[in-house]
Amino acid sequence: MKVAIGSDHGGVNIKEEIKQQMEEMGIEFDDVGCECDTSVDYPDYAIPVAEKVAKGEVDRGILVCGTGIGMSIAANKVKGIRCALVHDTFSAKATREHNNSNVLAMGERVIGAGLAREIAKIWLETEYEGGRHERRVSKITEYEA
Ligand code: RB5
Repeated sequence: MKVAIGSDHGGVNIKEEIKQQMEEMGIEFDDVGCECDTSVDYPDYAIPVAEKVAKGEVDRGILVCGTGIGMSIAANKVKGIRCALVHDTFSAKATREHNNSNVLAMGERVIGAGLAREIAKIWLETEYEGGRHERRVSKITEYEA
């Protein structure tokens, strides 16, 4: 699996934590930035990550900003993206099993690094269940088309 990861200035610390987590898991990643402490704009990172997923250049994407909200709104504008804003482990598992989410968004001003790492690990390891969920996910894809 290959993952694209990005953050704005509000999410850069958790981005680094998740990169460490992925290294420990043996997951290859592509960091699109940001690298700085100065103020940047979250769509400049959300859209490149989402486009990499949509084009099939990577399998999944992870985005972090202050709340995770801006990142998830921007990523979900890209066709083919199902970005889930997650701040608990139950939802991390459920959104993979039920929604086949291909991008994960989190907020560094909402949760700590330990929980963010746990959420990312569960989300990366959980498979989509398909079955009855496929009909529902297909309705989103059909609407988008
Ligand atoms: C940046 O201050 C902040 O607005 C951003 O990180 C994010 O929370 C937006 O949704």
